[in-house]
Amino acid sequence: MVVDLNIVDVKMLQGGLLVEGGISIDDGRIVKVGKEVNLPASSERIDGEGLVALPGMIDAHVHLRDLRLSYKEDFLTGTSAAACGGFTTVLDMPNSDPKTDSLKHLEMRRRAARGRVLVNVGFYACFPEEQEETERLAESPIVGFKINLSDPWSRLNFDDDDVLSSALRLAATHDRLIAVHAEDHLALMERERELRAEGADRPEDFLRLHPPEVEVSAVHRVLRIAEGSRPRLHFCHVSTAEAVRAIAEAKRRGLRVTCEVTPHHLFLTEEAVSRLGGIAIMSPPLRSPKIAGDLWKMVKGGLIDIIADDHAPHALEEKEAESLWDVRPGIPGLETTLPLLLDRVNRGELSLWDLTRLLSSRPAELFHLRGKGSLGEGFDGDVVLVDLRERWVIDSSKFKSKAKYSPFDGTEVVGRPVKTFVAGALVMERGEIVAEPGCGRLLS
Ligand code: DOR
Ligand code: ZN
Ligand code: ZN
Repeated sequence: MVVDLNIVDVKMLQGGLLVEGGISIDDGRIVKVGKEVNLPASSERIDGEGLVALPGMIDAHVHLRDLRLSYKEDFLTGTSAAACGGFTTVLDMPNSDPKTDSLKHLEMRRRAARGRVLVNVGFYACFPEEQEETERLAESPIVGFKINLSDPWSRLNFDDDDVLSSALRLAATHDRLIAVHAEDHLALMERERELRAEGADRPEDFLRLHPPEVEVSAVHRVLRIAEGSRPRLHFCHVSTAEAVRAIAEAKRRGLRVTCEVTPHHLFLTEEAVSRLGGIAIMSPPLRSPKIAGDLWKMVKGGLIDIIADDHAPHALEEKEAESLWDVRPGIPGLETTLPLLLDRVNRGELSLWDLTRLLSSRPAELFHLRGKGSLGEGFDGDVVLVDLRERWVIDSSKFKSKAKYSPFDGTEVVGRPVKTFVAGALVMERGEIVAEPGCGRLLS
């Protein structure tokens, strides 16, 4: 048997230890993992130069934009950023323009993505108004539904408990995951009125608009309502330890609930907002050093299921708007997340095994991504080779994302993704895209 590709001279995690060997990939799948002498013959051979091979990273929270929002990001630039950041699969949020809220719009999005993506892409949908369309979407190739409680993307009124309850029930009936941005919309509107009335307009006022309790109360509300139908519930970008504790408590009661945290909520604090203004504004916003520290302990303690980027690119002018009320919340994350976490591995704060769990194996499990999340035989040939020793400085001007800014700009880190393979095709090598668009697949 002659396979398509052997990646040789890599180190791989086995029982918590790094062992030397290679990976054989045929027809997009891993067919053999082991010592080089035991690998089958191959038509192509790539030297891993002693780098560490990990399963391709999976980002469960990415806004790829495109279509009418292509000025912020498009499928090609977003998936280029993903490949450069070591991600081989990303899940796209539905607040595009048009929104992914019908079969027609989902198909429009898939059509725009086809042939233009470098990594695998799965799509979320948001809830349409009509029940029949929701039923159709629930049976379509989506990874789940997304509800943003803070900024309604759907015409349904999720401030109403009965409406939210029906949505959760429908998702449960179809065994569809529901991802929630949990911030209390009514409280936010009330605060916005007050802040505007007092003339608040500094970047720091965004923190007063979105205090921790706005998130905590929304998480409690969703958990209470979910008791009735017990859907697969996933909380996006949780930014307070209190919310994580409430979620952990609900898990103990038997609810099928999980959560994610972003690198910015772990490694940055509200101080960055005064320092960087709009570049450090996202919702939910950055928190106190105490909260960020507690969240990091919860990541290491296993209370947080996955790390996700919330890669939310905007044009620079939208980040640097004169008035706070015109600043668009959100920052790019695809090209900084893995380096920031590899750096923590180097500092001895996180094991490589935990990194892989948080960014690959657990997301694959939560989103039912078959063939993903492991370098095992039979899994997809999605692989990232990382250099654990490279010391470098994050430079957002070099991003493949259209959003060439980052609150992490100028941060020195040790550890970098060097080669990314998608279904056995080398897509990124040393920061450059070396494959033609179209090697990523659309998940179905
Ligand atoms: O900061 C954010 N940006 N939070 C969201 O919930 C939406 C996102 C975006 O789409 O820009
Ligand atoms: Zn969100
Ligand atoms: Zn988001």
